[in-house]
Amino acid sequence: MNAGIIGIGRYLPEKIMTNLDMEKIVDTSDEWIRTRTGIEERRLAEDNIDTSDMAYFAAQKALEDAGVTAEDLDMIIVATVTPDRPFPSVACMIQERLGAKKACAYDLSAACAGFMYGIINGKQFIENGDYKNVLVVGVEKLSKITDWNDRNTAVLFGDGAGAVVLGPVSENKGILSFELGADGTGAKHLYQDEYIIMNGREVFKFAVRQMGESAVNVIEKAGLSKEDVDFLVPHQANIRIMEAARERLELPIEKMSMTINKYGNTSAASIPISIVEEVENGRIKDGDVVVMVGFGGGLTWGAIAIRWGK
Ligand code: UT7
Repeated sequence: MNAGIIGIGRYLPEKIMTNLDMEKIVDTSDEWIRTRTGIEERRLAEDNIDTSDMAYFAAQKALEDAGVTAEDLDMIIVATVTPDRPFPSVACMIQERLGAKKACAYDLSAACAGFMYGIINGKQFIENGDYKNVLVVGVEKLSKITDWNDRNTAVLFGDGAGAVVLGPVSENKGILSFELGADGTGAKHLYQDEYIIMNGREVFKFAVRQMGESAVNVIEKAGLSKEDVDFLVPHQANIRIMEAARERLELPIEKMSMTINKYGNTSAASIPISIVEEVENGRIKDGDVVVMVGFGGGLTWGAIAIRWGK
């Protein structure tokens, strides 16, 4: 039995904060942010919209797209480092709101790689035959742990949610291979105290190396070569990191998702948000080999090769 993505959905807050707006808050410039990161604007959730609200909105859309009712869900996994509160989990909060009575539910903490971890968690239960429908959400309200006085981090992040429903798919479709990893020795480079603390340069070096390596590894594990890859969806942290991964795969620029300019770095939500964007604009199509790759605090990383479609 192969597990694959059978429905997708996302939620992006309406409020847009541009680089020019950022210039009014910290000592920065539109030019610096655009050239160093690729970000032009980001979305920020209103005070009355918390992480669980965004997760719920994205989940509703993914269920609708999959043609699966909440009662059909066997499991809910929410990847986030910005839950409404330490417990109950965001997964339990949306289980109640969706009415997914029979689903077990838990949150998973793997920072920006969380969505990759979530997909691979869910895949196991489907492929061993225990469960049929698994909801995986990547969601962050990073604005609530952002130090708005620190220009090193404030300009980078945004809020949002992306969700997928995983289910059994036909033999030649679905998840082909994966790689998950962690290196706790790098924890000191990216963590939350009260706010996000980051050694940008160290994370940058790690990310450039790991994104390319993991992407190549999952292609090999799937028995494919670089030429077989139709589309790359990298974690949207910095355009220069994403470009390094694309070059490693020798892919033309039009075969890589680039949404960081509009949404900034939304951590665990960035890959599913980008997937929705690319499916909607027709750049990810049925039968395409898609490679997703992410990295984040922990340090953690994860990559997945998938043949798109049911
Ligand atoms: O999802 C995972 C989360 N994190 C990441 O992926 C981050 C990975 N790292 C990066 O994306 C980059 O390292 C940054 C975008 C964070 C920084 O870019 P950089 O090219 O590595 O810049 P830098 O850290 O080498 O800093 C260069 C200069 C510094 O000034 P000095 O010390 O050379 O005088 C910074 O203070 O740029 C300064 N700087 C800024 N200037 C204007 C840092 N932030 C800003 C800013 N506006 N917002």
